[in-house]
This record gives sequence, C-alpha cells and structure tokens, in this order.
Amino acid sequence: NGRGELRIHDSIDELSTDLADYIAELSDASVKERGVFTIALSGGSLIGLMGRLCEAHYKKTVDWGKWHIFWADERVVAKNHAESNYKLAKDGLLSKVPIIPNHIHSINDSASAEQAAEDYEFVIRQLVRTRVISVSEINDCPKFDLIILGMGPDGHVASLFPNHSALNGNDGWVTFITDSPKPPPERITFTMPVLNSASNVAVVVTGIGKSEAVHLAIDNVGPNCLLLPARMVRPSNGKLVWFLDKPAASELDNF
Ligand code: 6PG
Repeated sequence: NGRGELRIHDSIDELSTDLADYIAELSDASVKERGVFTIALSGGSLIGLMGRLCEAHYKKTVDWGKWHIFWADERVVAKNHAESNYKLAKDGLLSKVPIIPNHIHSINDSASAEQAAEDYEFVIRQLVRTRVISVSEINDCPKFDLIILGMGPDGHVASLFPNHSALNGNDGWVTFITDSPKPPPERITFTMPVLNSASNVAVVVTGIGKSEAVHLAIDNVGPNCLLLPARMVRPSNGKLVWFLDKPAASELDNF
C-alpha cells in the first residue's frame, strides 16, 4: 500500500541493532551486485542510532572500502562547525570505520547555499556518469542504494519542510533554502524526486514528540496530510522502511 514496512522496536537499543543489521545487509547486496554501496545520510539523532556500525563485528563483515557517503541534506556551515551534518557523521561514525577518504562526498562549505547546492549536484552528476551512482529507470534521477532520513515533529525530512516551495521538486536534484524553520537557516537538500528514486529509503524516528507526525505520515487520515513531506516519501521503484520506537509509533492506527 505504499506506506512501507514498519519496524517497531521495544527499545532504542533494539532499534539500533536492527538498523545496523539492515544497513550491513543492504551494503552486502549492493557490493555483490554493483561493486559499490552509495548511502546518503541526514543529520540529527539518526547518526547516534547508527553508532552500532562502529562495533568490531561490523568492522569485519562490512566492506567499508566500497562505501560512498553522501548527504541527503546538509547545513551550509563550515565542516568543523558544531552544526555540520558532515562533522556529526565524521565524529560519530566515519572516523571509526575504514572508509576511503575520497569516497566521503561532503558539500563545498566555503560557498553560498545556492552555489553549494549547484556544486553538490555537479558532484553527483559526475558519479552518475561514471556509474558509481546508479540511475533511475523511470526518470534520469540518481538512484542511491540507501537514503537514510530522520523526521522532525512537523513532518519534515531532509531539509524539505511543510509548505515550503523547495517541496515542489522542480529544482533538479539538489536545492537550497535560506529560511529553514529548524536552525541553522541555510541548507542544501536532495529534492523529493531524488528521495523517491532511491533503491531503499529508511526513515528513523524515535520519541513521543513525533508520534503525531508518524501517524499523519503513515495512516490513512484524509487529504490534509498529503502535503506532509514525510508522507510524500514513496519510492517509485524502491523499498521504504520505517524504524520506530514504541513512543514514536504510539499514535498509529492499530498500534
Ligand atoms: C537536519 C536533518 C533533519 C533531521 C530531522 C530529525 O539536518 O536537521 O537532516 O531532517 O534528520 O530534523 O532530527 P532529529 O532526529 O534530531 O529530531
């Protein structure tokens, strides 16, 4: 029915283990099939929840040298700034596993938001051309092996916020905003067509504060919520999985 697979966990600990196993399995499948694994990260609590991947077990089983890392959204700040999604991922994960430094595709942090978005799209275009990133069969969008998203209490994903013009998706692959309701204001973000072209999309959401948005994004609650960014995530030729803890899932119908 398009709403995706729901994985509802009793504890954060259990969710983290399941998330790490899920990522490791997708990595394995992509490396076997294409020799690379392209994964796009987001910011926020998600990176902490991925932390289990640093554990010794995954050091042996995951083919880190085949990973290419991207960001579904990034704050336009210096790479060493406390608010940088790159820094968050670097400190929490990327510095602890043997990823090849030039496979980490971070944004140009010395440009304006507009220029950074343009530059990032160019980087992605080059990697599509060289077949590191696959291409969607439906449109010419890049097809990432996995895009991992968090979700805000307002239902935003990546830096696509409710009622924002960036949601219209007529802006190519990567667009920018300068008025993010969640600070910092300047961000670049994948557009909705790129999110929906991925082979796999995982949305990772925890906590009671997001239960209403989870309900609106997943259940059949009438036409009003159709414009909720999280609800617009429906991969056209890929698989959607929600990783939820019980508080986040608590307002779902049939919970
Ligand atoms: C960002 C994000 C954003 C985030 C959600 C959830 O850069 O802020 O990529 O989309 O994933 O806001 O963040 P939390 O999990 O911290 O609530």
